[in-house]
Amino acid sequence: MLMKILMVCLGNICRSPLAEGILKQKAADAGLRWHIESAGTIGFHTGIAPHHFSKKVALLNGINIDNKRSREFITADFNRFDRIYAMSADVIDEIKKIAGKNFIEKKVSLMMDELFPGQNIEVPDPWYGTEPDFHNVYKLIDSACKKIIEKYAAGINQHGAFQ
Ligand code: 4NP
Repeated sequence: MLMKILMVCLGNICRSPLAEGILKQKAADAGLRWHIESAGTIGFHTGIAPHHFSKKVALLNGINIDNKRSREFITADFNRFDRIYAMSADVIDEIKKIAGKNFIEKKVSLMMDELFPGQNIEVPDPWYGTEPDFHNVYKLIDSACKKIIEKYAAGINQHGAFQ
């Protein structure tokens, strides 16, 4: 089955473009033809390229996200995606506000819940940070994306199809 996954943060310029790039790379490496996008709950940066440190940290890890452009999360994303991963709890609050009665609880979770279920671990907002903060963000997202791939790969092995 084709998995459709949306990565969401506030601005869609620091964290979620990295999450999109990292998961795309890992899915391709695993031979999974998934559809992966990212979006932000703040429309303010719409059409803008990722933060220069996100682009730099991605490239240092062999991933190019230079062509990504920020777009706003919209309610219709609940129809288009199977899974919506939020980088932090404030992002889930904003998704709820945007979607209102169309919020679908079972599709949304903190991305770090994949590694540490129920521990409310967030990918910290690096917007006011420095380059090391972006390296930390990369490391967290990379670890969660590795787990996402492992989880679905295990599903393929057990049942011959994605769960
Ligand atoms: P992001 O970081 O959510 O990881 O893209 C931010 C970017 C911009 C703002 C906040 C967070 N902002 O307030 O403009």
